[in-house]
Formats: sequence, C-alpha cells, structure tokens
Amino acid sequence: MNDPTLTAGRRAAILLAKASITGAASREMETLARGVLGGSRFHTVLHAFSEQGSPSLREVLNSLGEAAAPFDEICILPCLLPMEPGFKTWITGAVQRWAQHMAAAGRTLPRITVTEGPSQAAAMLGVLQAVCDGPTTEVAPAKAGAPALGSVIPPQKRRVLVCQGGPCNDAGAALVWGHLRNEQKRLDLRTTGDGMMSARTSCLGPCKLAPVVQVFPEGTWYGGVDEAGMDRIVAEHLLQGQPVEALAYAPSPDKQVLR
Ligand code: FES
Repeated sequence: MNDPTLTAGRRAAILLAKASITGAASREMETLARGVLGGSRFHTVLHAFSEQGSPSLREVLNSLGEAAAPFDEICILPCLLPMEPGFKTWITGAVQRWAQHMAAAGRTLPRITVTEGPSQAAAMLGVLQAVCDGPTTEVAPAKAGAPALGSVIPPQKRRVLVCQGGPCNDAGAALVWGHLRNEQKRLDLRTTGDGMMSARTSCLGPCKLAPVVQVFPEGTWYGGVDEAGMDRIVAEHLLQGQPVEALAYAPSPDKQVLR
C-alpha cells in the first residue's frame, strides 16, 4: 500500500458511495468531503456515486482530469462497509475505461489509487463506537387493524432491463445503470412520451455481448452498451420509438460477437 504522506504533488480525493437519489444524501456526502478536506493533505476532496446518483465517478474523474491545474494523484476512498470485493473490481474497471477515454483524448493521466479496506474498517470502529453513544430514533410498530396497502399498476409502456450479472458488471454495466437512472430523472422519462420504467436484472443470457440491455415491449437486445450507447437508446428508442440498429442484436441460433 502507498503511504499518502510520502506522495508529493497535487492530490485529489473522491469519496465514493454506492447510490443515492435524494438531495439529503448528496448534502451528507458534501459535508463528509469538506470534513475530510479539512484534516488531510488533499488539495480537493469531492464525492461521487458508483450507481444511481449524481455526480457519477466518471463525471468527477473528468472534472479532476481536465482541471486547469493538473493533479498528480487521485485517490478513491470507497465509502462501503464491509467492503465487497466486487466493488473494488468495479472501481478498477471504471477507472480503466476512463483512462482509455483520457488517453484517446491525448490527456496526461494522474496516478489513481484506492484506499485499502482493512484500514477503513479499523477506522470505522471508532466512528461506530461514537455513534452508539449518540441520539436514536424509535422505529414505530405497525398499527393494529391498519388497512392492507395496495399497489398501482403502472401505465408506462416501456421497460428497460439492464443486466447486472457478473460479466456485464465486469464490462461496466453498473455505470450504464447509474447513467440510465440519472438520465431517467433528468429527462423525466417515466412520464415523457410512452413512459418508461427500468430495472436491474441477473444474467439475461448473452454474456459475450456485455454489457447487455433489453428494451420492451419490442424486446430489443442491445450489446456493448456504454454511457454514449445508452444516450442513443434513450434519444432514439425510448423517446422516438426507433430501435438503435447499430447497437442491436437480433435473436439468432448462431453465436454472435460484439461488433
Ligand atoms: S451477465 Fe449479462 S448477459 Fe450474462
């Protein structure tokens, strides 16, 4: 593990949480970032979400990677306990794809590091002990005799399934999912046009075409979908009813590979 106190140059940190769609959670992350900045050797500390929520990790990496005063190191601090090995795999994939994008744009890459899980867990012990002595809120019991809660059948015509099986996640499906959910909110896709809903699924089948997305009611299969591909699916398929042929794969008994 690298000792951060030995690293010279301009350093940035990203507090990486999983997901949030509420302003309160984003403000909580901003407060945490300010707190970390105050007691650290970082020149800036930002927050990001790996799934749904804004800003995404890629957006924050872009802002740091394109800063007028370049950073020598960007350190990612996963805010997750216990640390899932898959989260670290996800971070590696997301950073590698971003680095490819930066290299293609001819930009100089900073060193990217990730804090180690065990030291975070040890540090969390003190936090949890402090929280135990803090205020609590009672969870209200269910009221006896309360009427059964019903469910509304949604009117949305379209449903977007984003595969989150292992091969698709290794290929960046969580990024695609987070991007779709952010765009769904930004463009109000649930109530625009035919309306749409989205869901994550386990393996949909054609893993070699990862990340895989399927759009109903047509059942159109899409493979190799990244954020830009999802933008096209939203603009052309969801909003105009025109499947994106360049990304689509027709059902066939023959094996297909990514184009
Ligand atoms: S993991 Fe996505 S299609 Fe199998």
